[in-house]
Amino acid sequence: MPLLSKDDLIIDGGNSLFTDTDRREAYLKTKGIHFFGAGVSGGAKGARKGPSIMPGGSREAYKEVKPIFEAVSAKYKGEPCVAYLGPKSAGNYVKMIHNGIEYGLMQLTSEIYDLLKKAGKLNNDELHNAFDNWNNGRLQSFLVEITSEILAKDDDQGSGQLVDKILDKAKQKGTGKWTSQNAMDLGIPIPSIDIAVSMRELSALKADRLKAEKLYGRSQPATLSKDNLVKMAEEALYFSFIITYAQGLHQLSEASEEYGYELDLGTIAKIWRAGCIIRAGLLADITKAFQQNAGLSNLLLDPAFAKEIKQTLASVRQLVSYGATNGVPLPGLSNSLTYFDAYTSGRLPLNLIQAQRDYFGSHTYERTDKEGVFHTEWEA
Ligand code: 6PG
Repeated sequence: MPLLSKDDLIIDGGNSLFTDTDRREAYLKTKGIHFFGAGVSGGAKGARKGPSIMPGGSREAYKEVKPIFEAVSAKYKGEPCVAYLGPKSAGNYVKMIHNGIEYGLMQLTSEIYDLLKKAGKLNNDELHNAFDNWNNGRLQSFLVEITSEILAKDDDQGSGQLVDKILDKAKQKGTGKWTSQNAMDLGIPIPSIDIAVSMRELSALKADRLKAEKLYGRSQPATLSKDNLVKMAEEALYFSFIITYAQGLHQLSEASEEYGYELDLGTIAKIWRAGCIIRAGLLADITKAFQQNAGLSNLLLDPAFAKEIKQTLASVRQLVSYGATNGVPLPGLSNSLTYFDAYTSGRLPLNLIQAQRDYFGSHTYERTDKEGVFHTEWEA
């Protein structure tokens, strides 16, 4: 503060919690200083070669930084992966959701890797080939690409591949957890992201997991034919990637209303097409879906995506039931399928929950055949 003068601009390019950004912006405004929250994604390479930038804050201040951001950002077919997203903490908020989606996609990738190993007995070379082939198709994405490279990396301190020597405890810095916490506040279901956070927590319980494995034992999972399994796994990963983006984008649309961000989801999908960790071929289609219908409340309601989803469903159901029968944990995949099945159910059994609430607490219920709020004396 002592080094700043009126009309100076501070850009926060870190993974800051959006409520901190709002507080900082409001405080600095009283001192005549502009504050700008800009989410930045792309890791160390992105920092040097061009990240995706998600700026939010004062529109006036954006004019000052726009040429700089556009020059340093990643480019997708010549278009800069940066755009003014909205007022206040819009930029940090969008980056938080980006990270929630990142957690979801990473969890799903790890499950599919595990499934191919356990059900198909694929070795690391075969796993590398599967992910490499997928990266040349509709699953083309940064995370699938680096997964294929990781699987091919030799251990520089011993024999075999490095991936097999890495301890299976995933750390986190909190941005995925923030996404889940905020989704609960907003009342938006994002179970594919929630479970990715829980799985990092579960992975940390290594000592207990080893004890429990001994106590309960594990049976050998059944083997599936490799070719068919790889094909089904591709469909399942594609399905669950779409579901994860759909959940994150749904949260963004609700946050836009709640916090007055005035977000344009098409623009957000557009600036995620290159530079960031969740960049994927799929984002070009997502951009199109929101450009055609800016008011789309959920990607699953887009007819083009509905067609894609329907084509993958049989494989997803088969793999989720394989996992359940054989004790191979596929929580991201099964949560994605459950979300899909619930979201596409015109009637859910929550009528019973309403009846229970009314029974024990007179919480009232609505009826399907009449307007109004009702209460019943349930006990005979
Ligand atoms: C990015 C990443 C990055 C994030 C790391 C670590 O977009 O470049 O999201 O901002 O800090 O991925 O996240 P975790 O430590 O929580 O896994």
